[in-house]
Amino acid sequence: MAGRFDGKVAIVTGGGSGIGAATARRLVSEGAQVMAADINAPKEQPPEGVMVHRCDVASSAETTAMVEAAVARFGRLDILVNNAGVGIMAETPDVTDEQWRKVFAVNIDAAFYACRAAIPHLRKQGGAIVNVASISGLFGDYGMTAYNASKGAITNYTRALAMDHARDGIRVNAICPGLIIGTGLTDGIKDVAGWLSIIPMGRSGTPDEMAKVIAFLASDDASFMTGSIVVADGGATAHTGQPNFPAQRRAAMGKA
Ligand code: NAI
Repeated sequence: MAGRFDGKVAIVTGGGSGIGAATARRLVSEGAQVMAADINAPKEQPPEGVMVHRCDVASSAETTAMVEAAVARFGRLDILVNNAGVGIMAETPDVTDEQWRKVFAVNIDAAFYACRAAIPHLRKQGGAIVNVASISGLFGDYGMTAYNASKGAITNYTRALAMDHARDGIRVNAICPGLIIGTGLTDGIKDVAGWLSIIPMGRSGTPDEMAKVIAFLASDDASFMTGSIVVADGGATAHTGQPNFPAQRRAAMGKA
């Protein structure tokens, strides 16, 4: 069966682990050739069709060179997934200049460097950019100011890019994942039950579930979507934050 990405070339930043690695696997499984660009070595051996490229996406020069290396290797570029991301847990008085700069450098500056280098190539035949933002770019969290601010930036950058390049045949969309356990970013979470309690579906998402949404946005199945901010969070942000009265009533009556 023909794959949705047969003949297409994709770059996935932060492709060495978590959501990025799952996305690289997914795109390859549907026919793409993929460059997985990451500052760290892959956590698992990537499948055939994934070219690993070491790159610090916080560096303008390295990111520009990474895009050119993908085009030199594969001859074209169709899809860019800006996925690399880092976070810190700290309230503003405790955030150092270096921590703030690092979060912004990886979570938003890097997407700008990659898009600036990629758009001239994507324009040649049209293409798709998918930015991995977060529900933390839509609303606030306790103790995550730098992360919230940087993810808000990439969310609105997505809309502006989409407008500027719609007539170049380049679609630009963002995914806002909710809690995805089992990635580098969430490895350190100890109180998993506390995090799950606010998710209506009662579970975290998986990297593969995010990869499916990213692949959809990158594919022609999303041909009339650009500037969309797609939430995939098990219902977490459907919630106003009010208590769960029916559950409280059931508990009071001794029902599950
Ligand atoms: P992860 O830590 O497994 O993946 C992030 C990847 O980015 C890693 O492979 C890391 O080596 C790479 N990276 C970090 N700094 C880099 C740099 N300077 N240059 C190149 N690569 C760099 O974590 P995860 O969860 O897969 O994160 C992927 C994206 O998903 C991030 O943008 C994150 O903010 C976002 N996200 C994750 C959520 C979660 O609950 N896991 C929720 C919402 C968004």
